[in-house]
Amino acid sequence: MPDERWTAVDAYLTDALVPPDAALDAALDASAAAGLPAIQVTPNEGKLLHLLARAVDARRILEIGTLGGYSTIWLARALPPDGRVVTLEVEPRHAEVARANVERAGLSSRVDLRLGRALDSLAALAADGSAPFDFVFIDADKAGIPGYFDWAVRLTRRGGLVVVDNVVRGGRVLDEEADADVQGIRRFLARAAHDSRVVVTALQTVGSKGHDGFALALVTG
Ligand code: SAH
Ligand code: DHB
Ligand code: MG
Repeated sequence: MPDERWTAVDAYLTDALVPPDAALDAALDASAAAGLPAIQVTPNEGKLLHLLARAVDARRILEIGTLGGYSTIWLARALPPDGRVVTLEVEPRHAEVARANVERAGLSSRVDLRLGRALDSLAALAADGSAPFDFVFIDADKAGIPGYFDWAVRLTRRGGLVVVDNVVRGGRVLDEEADADVQGIRRFLARAAHDSRVVVTALQTVGSKGHDGFALALVTG
């Protein structure tokens, strides 16, 4: 549960730093109207993803877990006009809402939404010339994170960034006997620490979505 003060500070920071935006607001409204779960990144987190993608001069971005396309819009806006976000989604209804949201934002030409299980789409991407990516955002099922991270590193150029959402889950990451989601997070963190291809850290976040965290990995080789 989000603490009242975390939520108030998030509102304050968002008011101060993230101007209202018609396309992003419309995407949230349409996602809620379609009954999608409100688990998208917050506005200041969306802007963080946008900022990090720009920091690595991203031209090709990979997103695993589209939902209604809210984070996709933030990422697509970090690209030059000929850049691409490839975004992977398994739920046809989520994909349909996301396509409409991206279209309304005027970003369809920069977004390549692939419907299917992420692991299948990743294997296809490796073969079809979409890689290498400059920036990857992993935000689908948490049990799948170890596999997605391994693909992400293989598909990312040296100097690129991989960001993983939801690595704290209200502190449940500490439960060694927890569910498959938490086991996925723990296995990912344990492996990444010894993965010579990356430099990794993780940070806790608090805010309107409660207590959670991001892991960030720089691909070094
Ligand atoms: N990145 C979005 C939120 C994604 S929520 C945002 O911040 O705006 C997680 C999404 O991952 C959901 O839409 C869910 O359907 C999708 N997902 C779950 N398992 C998946 C899988 N195996 N392959 C592809 N997508 C998956
Ligand atoms: C959940 C998934 C997310 O990607 C997120 O940011 C928050 C919650 C979930 O499945 O509960
Ligand atoms: Mg998430």
